[in-house]
Amino acid sequence: MGKVYLVGAGPGDPGLMTIKGHGLLACADVVIYDALVSPEILQMINPKAEKINAGKRMGRHSLLQEDTTQLLIQKAQIHHIVVRLKGGDPFIFGRGGEEMIELMAANIPVEIVPGITSGIAAPAYAYIPLTHRLYSSSVTFVTGHEAAGKYKPAVKWTALAQGSETIIIYMGIHNLPYIIEQLNLGGLSLQTPIALIRWGTTPQQEQLIGELGNILDKIAASNFSAPAIAIIGNVVHIHQLLSHKT
Ligand SMILES: C[S@@+](CC[C@H](N)C(=O)[O-])C[C@H]1O[C@@H](n2cnc3c(N)ncnc32)[C@H](O)[C@@H]1O
Repeated sequence: MGKVYLVGAGPGDPGLMTIKGHGLLACADVVIYDALVSPEILQMINPKAEKINAGKRMGRHSLLQEDTTQLLIQKAQIHHIVVRLKGGDPFIFGRGGEEMIELMAANIPVEIVPGITSGIAAPAYAYIPLTHRLYSSSVTFVTGHEAAGKYKPAVKWTALAQGSETIIIYMGIHNLPYIIEQLNLGGLSLQTPIALIRWGTTPQQEQLIGELGNILDKIAASNFSAPAIAIIGNVVHIHQLLSHKT
């Protein structure tokens, strides 16, 4: 019986992979990886390992979640080191929790190796600290794309508008019109700054900066598209302070 390691690959820059994760990739027997894992990180994998792409992106599922879990169980029954490699951090909107529960239910030993989540790293590379004593003392990570069958029906965007000074939205680009409407209903002004970042921490990183009131027009004018992280709140002003100095 082997062991499954749920490893966070970080947001894209291979330098942000943890030493522990790197070591596991180098000696893995099998690696099952997701779509957003960068090619440079895939090159860290033991050349003799079996590599399986379980990549899933909206509308393009290469492996169903149940099949991925079953595959992990089968591989752990015949190999020593099975790495489940996920973009960012496995426990932040990465289904790492679900996979760990199911593996443990099947009596497969599992270990989590956290990664740097895109919601922290992408803003950092765009010179946006998520907290700052003058701009924000709270931050919320939230998904803009909720799974069916969740224990609660929906994110309470109107409450979030009041409850958090910085809001980081994963998978939120497609629902942005609704999210902006709800945040505005909850009291967030349409002048509130917003930044969208795609390919965060990679050489292709792109960002679009605006306000809640004009970001949808900016998206339409620029063809900016998902996947991307959205950062909402006054901390986005710090981008303007720092980016022209670099
Ligand atoms: C299924 S979630 C996985 C999140 C991942 N577990 C993490 O911790 O970053 C995928 C979403 O993460 C965000 N994302 C992941 N990598 C990104 C990157 N390099 N730049 C910007 N957003 C990213 C996007 O919002 C994307 O739709």
